[in-house]
Amino acid sequence: MLVRLIYISYSNTEMSDENIKQILDKSKINNSAKKVTGLLLYSDRYFFQCLEGERRDVNQTYLRIAADPRHSKCVLIDYSEVNSRLFPTWSMNFVAFSGSDNEMVLRYSENGLFQPYDFSAGQANAFLLEVANAIAISNRTEEKPKSLLAWFKD
Ligand SMILES: Cc1cc2nc3c(=O)[nH]c(=O)nc-3n(C[C@H](O)[C@H](O)[C@H](O)COP(=O)(O)O)c2cc1C
Repeated sequence: MLVRLIYISYSNTEMSDENIKQILDKSKINNSAKKVTGLLLYSDRYFFQCLEGERRDVNQTYLRIAADPRHSKCVLIDYSEVNSRLFPTWSMNFVAFSGSDNEMVLRYSENGLFQPYDFSAGQANAFLLEVANAIAISNRTEEKPKSLLAWFKD
């Protein structure tokens, strides 16, 4: 049974590139072994992550992540059974972006700030799809969309 999980959290410290790299390196190893795929976003100290895979593997991964002292205030936004993966080839892709003055964020925010704790499940899924599409387009054209600061391809 395939599931998709989306949660939000808040990092306990400002994350350096090295901090993020450590998380991603470990995630890619663990997730590949369990065929878990997904996307991790970081902006203004918020993490926004999507995990997809077999239910038991996604649950175990989420429980490990939620106990991680590098972040807190984990809030589960959506958990659903799905027929297919949104990110079949990403063991964990990463995007960092600036929350303020960002065209993509503006469409999901009334005050122009990235406030993912206010996201409904529907908004979270729509936002995720929009970011995923921006990455896919940029991968095809090799052009970096202005709204995304950085991402790491698998
Ligand atoms: C925001 C965030 C996202 C993370 N994402 C993943 C992930 O997708 N997969 C994973 O295995 N660990 C992830 N981790 C790391 C886990 O919390 C944990 O440190 C790691 O899974 C432990 O792996 P180990 O038992 O193999 O040492 C994440 C940590 C943070 C703070």
